[in-house]
Amino acid sequence: MEVKENVEIIIENGTILDIGRKLSNTTKAIDCNHMLVSPGFVDSHTHPVFLDARENEFKMRIAGLSYEEISKSGGGIINSVNGVRNADELDLIRRVTKRMDKFIQHGTTTVECKSGYGLNTESELKSLKVIHDVNKVHNIDMIATFMGGHAFPNEFQKNKSDYVDLICNEMIPEVANQGIAVFNDVFCENGYFNNEQTLKILNRGKEYGLVPRMHADEFQDSNSAKIAAEVRAVSADHLMAVNDNGIKMLSENNIIATLLPGTTFFLGKTKYAPYLKLKDAGVEVALATDYNPGSCNIQSMPFIISLACIYLKMSVVDAIKAATYTPARSLMIDKEVGSIEIDKKADIIIWNISNMDMIPYTITENRIINNVLKNGIPTFTP
Ligand code: NIG
Ligand code: FE
Repeated sequence: MEVKENVEIIIENGTILDIGRKLSNTTKAIDCNHMLVSPGFVDSHTHPVFLDARENEFKMRIAGLSYEEISKSGGGIINSVNGVRNADELDLIRRVTKRMDKFIQHGTTTVECKSGYGLNTESELKSLKVIHDVNKVHNIDMIATFMGGHAFPNEFQKNKSDYVDLICNEMIPEVANQGIAVFNDVFCENGYFNNEQTLKILNRGKEYGLVPRMHADEFQDSNSAKIAAEVRAVSADHLMAVNDNGIKMLSENNIIATLLPGTTFFLGKTKYAPYLKLKDAGVEVALATDYNPGSCNIQSMPFIISLACIYLKMSVVDAIKAATYTPARSLMIDKEVGSIEIDKKADIIIWNISNMDMIPYTITENRIINNVLKNGIPTFTP
């Protein structure tokens, strides 16, 4: 990553046309006052299609219960499923739109959005349609991921293989038929989808053109990074409990590790993903928020960068790359976004700070972003 000083960026029709010194004689210039300019953030892992917040679970954790214990007693992902199943589509659209407004305010210009709180064919399709409909009208770019493999719904607790069959034989073909998702994600973890079920779902998705990505080794070492390698997932996410062999497999198979330190932080855990080991093994690392109502109510990529620097010991420059260029690669859109380069979209943050070290350093101030250009157009009215 290169830092340039005193340059002008020429934008035409939402695209970067040129970068250099004293290029323009245009009448429509934005003076950035010698402040920092960076690519818009690409948040490559979020779960934004839910109805209500789950602050009750936050309180239970403060009182001493763990995320896993809360899930086992009927909370967790299942807690959001009734909400989505009973929700009116327009209501969901309104809520997701507001969440997208917030992402942009924090500098995120592209966001991956998962379904996964429907867990039946109708409500998974409804969730993906909400993503599709909001994306059509919102200036943020939303990339949809099907995540029927997020948890086993109550009605299938006793016959889990039937739910896997439903995903493989009904949901995936219909999602592909409607063309409303790019990726297929599974929560591969002890107590959720085991390795064999994960492989089955991701391989079926591949037959239908859905690219695999994974929630892998989030809470326990479940040998799921190995599965990510086996299925050639584009990204293995979380990895708080990944083992050394898993790291080796990710490296050998060029799989991006998407780390989500916001989740570790929000759950009050202390064991962060082993970033330095991943880096030493040559694994490419992306950062994302994991925004969801249960384990991470965080939408700010600048805050995630702070956490990555403090707890993962990532350098500032590596954290910024991991929040822009690498997630764009994991979403397979690095030809269009993720860096300020000629021919890419003019998705640009204009900061109120003059150097990039101030991004992780400035944690709670809410005015460090001056404006966010999406396709060259300012999204805030000053
Ligand atoms: O990424 N790990 C699975 N899914 C989410 C949690 C979702 C929820 O609790 O609602 C996560 O942490
Ligand atoms: Fe997640």
